[in-house]
Amino acid sequence: MDLVSKKWIFNVLLSMCFIGAACTSVEKKIYVHLNNTVPCVRLLNATHQIGCQSSLSGDVGVLHVLESEENLDFVLRTGLHPPYMVILEHRLFTRSIMMKLNNGSSRVAGVAVVAPDANPAEGFSPHNTCPNENTGVYSETYDPALAHCSTTVWNPLGNGLSYEEFDFPIFSLKDDNKTRFIRQCYFDHNRMVNGSSPQYPLCAMQLFSHMSAVTNTATCMRRNDLNLGITPEYVCDPLGDFNVWATTRPLNNTAKGHKMSESVVIAATRLDSRSFFFNIAPGAQSAASGFVTLLAAAHALRNITQEAPPNRTILYAFFQGETFDYIGSSRMVYDMENGQFLVDLDNIHSVLEVGQVGMRANSRLWLHSDPVSRRNGSIDEEVKTLVENIRSAVMTLNVSASEPNVSQPLPPSSFQRFLRSRPIPGVVIADHESSFSNRFYESMYDNAEYMRVSYPQNMTQEEQLQFVTDTAKALTEVATVLARALYKQAGGDQSQLSGINADPQIVTQMLYSFLIQSNNSWLQQIVPSDLAGHLKNTATNFYVGVMLQSSEPTHLVQHLLANLTGNVVNVTQQDCQNQRMEESDTVSKHTYTYTWVQGAVPPNATEREGYCVRSTVHLSKAVSPAFDLREFTSTDYSTWTESRWKTIKGRIFLVASHELEMVTLGVGVGVLLTSLLLTYVISSKADILFSSQREPTNATY
Ligand SMILES: *[C@@H]1O[C@H](CO)[C@@H](O)[C@H](O)[C@H]1NC(C)=O
Ligand SMILES: *[C@@H]1O[C@H](CO)[C@@H](O)[C@H](O)[C@H]1NC(C)=O
Ligand SMILES: *[C@@H]1O[C@H](CO)[C@@H](O)[C@H](O)[C@H]1NC(C)=O
Ligand SMILES: *[C@@H]1O[C@H](CO)[C@@H](O)[C@H](O)[C@H]1NC(C)=O
Ligand SMILES: *[C@@H]1O[C@H](CO)[C@@H](O)[C@H](O)[C@H]1NC(C)=O
Ligand SMILES: *[C@@H]1O[C@H](CO)[C@@H](O)[C@H](O)[C@H]1NC(C)=O
Ligand SMILES: *[C@@H]1O[C@H](CO)[C@@H](O)[C@H](O)[C@H]1NC(C)=O
Ligand SMILES: *[C@@H]1O[C@H](CO)[C@@H](O)[C@H](O)[C@H]1NC(C)=O
Ligand SMILES: *[C@@H]1O[C@H](CO)[C@@H](O)[C@H](O)[C@H]1NC(C)=O
Ligand SMILES: *[C@@H]1O[C@H](CO)[C@@H](O)[C@H](O)[C@H]1NC(C)=O
Ligand SMILES: *[C@@H]1O[C@H](CO)[C@@H](O)[C@H](O)[C@H]1NC(C)=O
Ligand SMILES: *[C@@H]1O[C@H](CO)[C@@H](O)[C@H](O)[C@H]1NC(C)=O
Repeated sequence: MDLVSKKWIFNVLLSMCFIGAACTSVEKKIYVHLNNTVPCVRLLNATHQIGCQSSLSGDVGVLHVLESEENLDFVLRTGLHPPYMVILEHRLFTRSIMMKLNNGSSRVAGVAVVAPDANPAEGFSPHNTCPNENTGVYSETYDPALAHCSTTVWNPLGNGLSYEEFDFPIFSLKDDNKTRFIRQCYFDHNRMVNGSSPQYPLCAMQLFSHMSAVTNTATCMRRNDLNLGITPEYVCDPLGDFNVWATTRPLNNTAKGHKMSESVVIAATRLDSRSFFFNIAPGAQSAASGFVTLLAAAHALRNITQEAPPNRTILYAFFQGETFDYIGSSRMVYDMENGQFLVDLDNIHSVLEVGQVGMRANSRLWLHSDPVSRRNGSIDEEVKTLVENIRSAVMTLNVSASEPNVSQPLPPSSFQRFLRSRPIPGVVIADHESSFSNRFYESMYDNAEYMRVSYPQNMTQEEQLQFVTDTAKALTEVATVLARALYKQAGGDQSQLSGINADPQIVTQMLYSFLIQSNNSWLQQIVPSDLAGHLKNTATNFYVGVMLQSSEPTHLVQHLLANLTGNVVNVTQQDCQNQRMEESDTVSKHTYTYTWVQGAVPPNATEREGYCVRSTVHLSKAVSPAFDLREFTSTDYSTWTESRWKTIKGRIFLVASHELEMVTLGVGVGVLLTSLLLTYVISSKADILFSSQREPTNATY
């Protein structure tokens, strides 16, 4: 039998396999499924769609391993077997190459980026240079000179790839076994040898990442509304999650809105991050450095705020979805304006926000404030007092705190959303004077390695969890400064400040939990049993996810904050879970949250000994008001939605040739027609074939 007829039979067999499930073993020999693939997905806002997608049946292309930018000419012009599935080393995942591929997308079936084992030496940020440019406070009307990052470009390394739209699927592959297999397949079958074109069969790859939503948020929300069926098929979901907050003083959370004679200092930070790819958002410096510091500060303040309470209340606020036009903070401000939150804007005394603080140069912190609201004399006085309070907290520590140039605006921060509503005194603490010191902002490399969270060799997981890294020591200093400054700002006594100290042990455990793995003996103790099963052996993904599906980081921070600021109370599991405290205690219902956590296994025992934690920790919706107001083209509020999808997968196989593919297709179509005919015959004779009654034909769902 000659080669061609062998292939012909092979193809007929292959196409039969698509129809019958009988020969799955044949399929396994032909395909290599790719595990560890991470797609880029489609997101939509009021006006645009961004991200990637494949066609419904997946995009197929002949593998081409790109060796350099010059080599693009092969893909875009000279190669004889388009479309190509381009394999890129990460160093070639640049704006220039990606935009050229996008422009020639008719010859590009998709792109697979091989993620390196170690971070690149040079910086990389797929985010834009001016994060949340249009939804912060610096609009043309607030101060034209400060709008659009015209004085300071915060993220100069940003290449904006995360905000482009691509006409083909883009996946990230781990540099593992399978990736070597892909390269081998390419070298064996597809590479030009001595200048002559490769011959069939060629190695090909197919990527599936079809996205249901198109155009923009208004369009996909309209499609969602049309879905009135019994099993509605939504096409997109608003991005969102929950904010986590707690107060140092128990306040009645059932009575929303203004609280008489209550003065609140807000200690804010953000909880989320993103990267180009869907579920890799390690956010070490961009999110974790700040919220770990705030958690440690809240812990340092637990005893003193119970024993010598300052006369103002400190509200710890961890905002979700800030990456996507300030979802969490804009929602809290909206709720405050509408009497739907614990307190209202009139209750706010000042705001102290923790930004990125993990990479201090010369132990220096920078205190950013808003030059526009400071033009008002009384706000300026308050900001000066706040800066003084932070400075006085620094005194004995190896930390210095300076203010940047007075005309510089605030970096991207949740505080901007409060200022958008009214002038409020506030400061954002960060490790950068002007543009970010983070060289991997909102990228997959903003990870433990970049934060220098690493351990001596041969340490067990348990030893690593306890090992105090230099990064943990540095963040502990910042947490101590923050805690003291908050206490002073809340009206606490200066003489108490030296007794307020953050605990490096707690900081190092938190860094391990978020940046290395959340599945560890410490977190197992402090979470409820239903969450324990969700703890992961990998770094936490800080991508916000979709509305009201609270994500792992939200719950971890919720329970950590409860453990670090709350108290253990002696009640039974049942009473704890029912929030049913002593009958007389009407206060507790309205102010506290009770959580039954797993606890530790006592020595010589086999069962964990759970206990009840009482805290002021609460969750509040972090969903953009645009979706409650149904203003899907809002310019005030975030309108980001995430498309839904059905299949995300990749596989590689050999393709025979175009002619043979046509034969395959022909057989496929033939079978399809046969089955259509069969279906027609069966359904037209159904009343004969099946005795049961049929639905009336005009029934609609
Ligand atoms: C890879 O994926 C295949 C099919 O989805 C699965 O059977 C296999 O266990 C996976 N392998 C690994 C190492 O995850
Ligand atoms: C896009 O491709 C066209 C030809 O296909 C070329 O003329 C044009 O310059 C390209 N644009 C960019 C931005 O590369
Ligand atoms: C939507 O996103 C695109 C891409 O980032 C941006 O250019 C556009 O300004 C955004 N639209 C709104 C209304 O924010
Ligand atoms: C690839 O991985 C498999 C199991 O996952 C292993 O058995 C095999 O030795 C690996 N091959 C190479 C070349 O590393
Ligand atoms: C390619 O050329 C080299 C020398 O020019 C020769 O040794 C080699 O055999 C050639 N390879 C093939 C596959 O023709
Ligand atoms: C807080 O007080 C408790 C007992 O009241 C004590 O055991 C604990 O060490 C104190 N914590 C700090 C950080 O001072
Ligand atoms: C807090 O106490 C200070 C004096 O210690 C007083 O000036 C201030 O008005 C008090 N603030 C509130 C909100 O009670
Ligand atoms: C780590 O442990 C292995 C075997 O247990 C030993 O051979 C090696 O020398 C150790 N390395 C270090 C740095 O201690
Ligand atoms: C916090 O967790 C530790 C265990 O890591 C436990 O000993 C302590 O009692 C917990 N405290 C609260 C208030 O939950
Ligand atoms: C907890 O309460 C039970 C019954 O109310 C009591 O027997 C026990 O001693 C208490 N435990 C502690 C540590 O107070
Ligand atoms: C808390 O507020 C609710 C609603 O206004 C009220 O019914 C309740 O009595 C209050 N509880 C306390 C302890 O003040
Ligand atoms: C645990 O068991 C060992 C041996 O059975 C015993 O020596 C030890 O005292 C026990 N410890 C506790 C805390 O009961």
